[in-house]
Amino acid sequence: MRRRLGRRYLDVLASIYIYNEHRGYTAIDRVLSAVRARAPDDLVLIAAIERHRADERKHYVMFRRWFERRGVMPLALDRTFGHIDRFVEIMFRTPISRMDIQAIIADDALFARLCRVISLTERRGYRQLDSLLSNRTVRADRILARIFEVIRKDEPSHWAPYEQWLQRYAQPRSDWWGRAVDSFVHAELLFLKLPILFLNPFVSRRVDWLDADQSANGAEAQQLSASAS
Ligand SMILES: [Fe+2]
Ligand SMILES: [Fe+2]
Repeated sequence: MRRRLGRRYLDVLASIYIYNEHRGYTAIDRVLSAVRARAPDDLVLIAAIERHRADERKHYVMFRRWFERRGVMPLALDRTFGHIDRFVEIMFRTPISRMDIQAIIADDALFARLCRVISLTERRGYRQLDSLLSNRTVRADRILARIFEVIRKDEPSHWAPYEQWLQRYAQPRSDWWGRAVDSFVHAELLFLKLPILFLNPFVSRRVDWLDADQSANGAEAQQLSASAS
């Protein structure tokens, strides 16, 4: 019984993570193309965002490999389970998919808000990993624990470019409203949505991968299995 509950917990946890990693790198793709168009000379910022995108994609593929090893697909979750989805929806009053990224990048105040949302999300993710890595059920799965360790190592370089931009343009690194919304979104996910998902046996599994249109090539997959083992 205890083993079954532990398995279900990891299933739920990894399903939420794989959704968020995929959402992360696909949303960064949009930010990246807008930054390239607005500030093509800002090569340092562009390179930093490219590295961030590559890391989130790497995290996604590590979770995908983890599910493949288990022989199951992730639970079919939608944007209700995305930290950044909820955060953006509250801060910009629009879903990520309908965000006018060009307009946001063209307006310093809006771009500063987006930078704060990304940086708070990354810092939140980093703090969350401390508690996950001390969780016995997570630690018992050596590969999953290793994945979380890799993510923890990567995370600080993710908020850095956005905070550097805020500093460069003398914008506050965070504001009370952003911090309050971040805490609310996190609490909602952890204490409401995750338990409901854990207890609901009727949630189906995905039938295809989120990146079905853009599967990992052989070299990428090999590199990732090496870093997760
Ligand atoms: Fe990530
Ligand atoms: Fe990250």
